[in-house]
Order: sequence, then structure tokens, then C-alpha cells
Amino acid sequence: MAITHETLRPPRGNEVAVRITHAALSSTDVLARRGGYVLQPVPGFVPGYDFVGVLETESAVSAALGLRAGARVAGVLPRMGAHATRLVLSPTFLVAVPDALTSERAATLPLTAVTAAVALRYAGPARSILVQGVSGAVGSLVAQLALRDDRVVVGTGSALPPALAPHGLDVPLADSRDPDWPARARELAGGSVEAAIDDSGSPCVREAVDPSGVVVHTAFAGRAGQRREDAVRETASAVLHRFGHPREVVCAVPFWVLRRRPAYRRLLAGLLDDAADGRLTPFDPQVVPFDSVWEAHRLADQRPAGRTIVLAMP
Ligand SMILES: NC(=O)c1ccc[n+]([C@@H]2O[C@H](COP(=O)([O-])OP(=O)(O)OC[C@H]3O[C@@H](n4cnc5c(N)ncnc54)[C@H](OP(=O)(O)O)[C@@H]3O)[C@@H](O)[C@H]2O)c1
Repeated sequence: MAITHETLRPPRGNEVAVRITHAALSSTDVLARRGGYVLQPVPGFVPGYDFVGVLETESAVSAALGLRAGARVAGVLPRMGAHATRLVLSPTFLVAVPDALTSERAATLPLTAVTAAVALRYAGPARSILVQGVSGAVGSLVAQLALRDDRVVVGTGSALPPALAPHGLDVPLADSRDPDWPARARELAGGSVEAAIDDSGSPCVREAVDPSGVVVHTAFAGRAGQRREDAVRETASAVLHRFGHPREVVCAVPFWVLRRRPAYRRLLAGLLDDAADGRLTPFDPQVVPFDSVWEAHRLADQRPAGRTIVLAMP
């Protein structure tokens, strides 16, 4: 991994330039650095899917979206590249950051919160939801959004994240080291699990879900050293099971952002408002200066409980 200096081309047409101030360093960045991420298989990429920054230029489209030069903005990129000091991009990837939200905290949200919300949309009207990895950044937001809708939520993970505490939310945990955990999860959910939001790809998740239900895959953990190959194989298997019992859906937010731009902007703007108003609590940011990006990756490798590493750009 290296810090490189490149000259950025000026914005063309309706593009805008953003000076990035903060960018999350998430588990996906760690996976990509280790060579296990399907969407970045070749070395030489710039990590980072999401960011907060300041709009340096404006265009007719940014003005139409209410985004003027000097505005604080946040966004998710369809490909990585946010661990940089500046970006030139379409303003349709950007939303304004509410005044009440610090940039550090806002930077923990775009990718994780959009992933949580899109995964729940794919779960449809399911009233009982199993959240694999509820202790993680995405899982804890899935739980908050689902509980807010009065759905029954059960989870797997080592512990409940502190982010649930301000909302007085309790999620019963099944221990995924127990071979009978799918049955335990169903029991904890009152006998029926109508949907699972799964970041593991474990076949046990299917066992936990009703035959008429849905498994939404946000990730496939895979085997150490073979994560990329396993993710490709398991994605193909999920696609083949899209009409199965339960049916399966792959939730790939980078593609969703690319295809559904207005829906993405509405969703992200609403989620940032929720966080600003205290209706949604993301993980706490652990801010590391960009100059210490290697230290930031070392911290991210340790997966600090309840915290998201956020790079502060110079
Ligand atoms: N589909 C998409 O578009 C999309 C978008 C964002 C993220 N993701 C993926 O979603 C997954 C979760 O992201 P996140 O930001 O919530 O990650 P995170 O904060 O690190 O949480 C990971 C969760 O998985 C559990 N886990 C168990 N064993 C693990 C292991 N060996 N390594 C890592 N985690 C383990 C953790 O449980 P314990 O710590 O309690 O054991 C934790 O609950 C990642 O795989 C990420 O790449 C997908």
C-alpha cells in the first residue's frame, strides 16, 4: 500500500470537485487490501467507498440539487476511490450533510447505512428478521431500522453493539458457534424467521429462514485465502436460488447506487437526517489522520468493537 500524488483533471460538463475531509475505512477496505474483494481484484486501486467533504465547484445539476460551492456533502462511490484528498464526480452521487451532524460521524454512515436500508428493502414486508453480524456496523443499523418498523429482530454476533443502547433496543442473540443455532434463532424470533440479512453466506442461514422467506446476502465471508473465489461461487449459488425456498437476493450497494441514483440520494439524505436527529445511531468514529493510514489499517484489522475508523484528510 502506498500514498501516491496524482494531478486531478478539472470537472467536465456537470461534474463537480469535492475536497474530501473524512472517509470511512471499513471492513470492505480491509478485505480489498488483502486481495479478497471481488469488485477490486487487481492491485493499484484507491480504497474507500464513501466520504464527507466540501463542494469546491458547482454546476447546473449541483445547483438544481441544492448543492452550492462550500456545501458540506457526503456520498457513496460506485467504485472505490474515496481515500483521496479530492474527487471529481457527478453531483448526483452527493447529498448535503445536516448541520447537526459532525463530519466525522457523518463519514461513518453513507455505505453502511445505505447497505442496511437497501438490505431491509430487499427483505420486503417480513415481520421477523434474523441479522447475521448484528454486532457489526451494518448489522447494528439493520437492527435499528427494523426495530423502528416494529419488526421482531434476532441476531448473531459476539455482543450487542453500544449503538443500540441509546434506543433502549434489545436483540436476542443466537450463538452461531452452537450447531443448533438456526433452530435457536427461530425460537428466539417466536417460531418463525421470515427474512435474514446475511453477511456470512453460511448455508445454516437458509435453515433458519421460513421456506416462504428470503435470505438477503450483503457479503460472503468465504474461507481464509480463498475469499474472492468463494464469494464468486456463493454469489452464483445465491442467484440460482433466487426462486428457491427460501429465495435468495444479493444486495450489492455499489451497483444499486449506480442504477438507482434518485432513490439512493433520497435514502442517504433521510438516513443522515435520522442520525442528526438521534433516530439512528451509527458506530462511533475513531478518527485517524490520513498521514497515518497504515496505522488506520492496523486498527481496522483489529475490528474495534462499536467503532468505525475514519480517515481525516489533510
Ligand atoms: N453488500 C454491500 O454492498 C456491502 C456494503 C457494505 C459492507 N458490506 C459487507 O458487509 C459485511 C459487514 O460489514 P460491517 O461494516 O458491518 O463489518 P463489521 O463492522 O466488521 O462487522 C462484521 C460482523 O461480522 C461478524 N464476524 C464474525 N466473524 C468475523 C470475521 N472473521 N471477520 C469479520 N467479521 C466477522 C462480526 O461479529 P463479531 O465481531 O461479533 O464476531 C460482526 O458482527 C462485510 O463483509 C462488508 O464487506 C457489504
